[in-house]
Amino acid sequence: TPVALMISGRGSNATALVRAAADPAFPARICLVLSNNPQAPGLEMARAAGLPTLAIDHRPFGKDRAAHEQALHAALTEAGAQAVCLAGYMRLLTPFLTQAWAGRMLNIHPSLLPSFPGLHTHERALDAGVRVHGCTVHLVTEGMDEGPILGQAAVPVLADDTADLLSARVLEQEHLLYPRALRHFLTRQPASASTASALLVA
Ligand code: GRF
Repeated sequence: TPVALMISGRGSNATALVRAAADPAFPARICLVLSNNPQAPGLEMARAAGLPTLAIDHRPFGKDRAAHEQALHAALTEAGAQAVCLAGYMRLLTPFLTQAWAGRMLNIHPSLLPSFPGLHTHERALDAGVRVHGCTVHLVTEGMDEGPILGQAAVPVLADDTADLLSARVLEQEHLLYPRALRHFLTRQPASASTASALLVA
């Protein structure tokens, strides 16, 4: 299945997906790595892996988010993508793009949703005093970090944790979870939202 990745920066989750997809037995073929940030290090990684890349900078579009998303959508469609994985794509999407890709767009979020949607999840988890933290792969809907959960992985919060330590512990799990959740999604495409919520605990 042709799958496009959307990134904004580092691209470590994109790297994990690219590596997984290098295995012929993996059900996704990465057909495009698309970024809103032309300087995203993840684009370099993708080029080095010989994958098609494209940067569509949001800045020239100014406040016209619709026009930027139409350009993204056209690029995804032209690449033949049948699903999209957001992997550190740091711009909020409007209903135009989420509806165009409804049921076919995945995101990874660094918390055990529905706890801590949004930014600074590791700091907030530490502030809240939770003992268990983690990451979630979910389908993208209009509400930020709100769609049906496809998989989660949990890590312990340790006594002397800092946000950096916790973030690194979660990130390691993200890199395992995302390929696993994508494989599951592509091979056991659920008929309904209720069967979409298979829990994957790494
Ligand atoms: C990850 O923590 C991901 O969960 C979040 O943004 C970060 C992206 O990191 N959505 P990377 O670009 O994949 O390294």
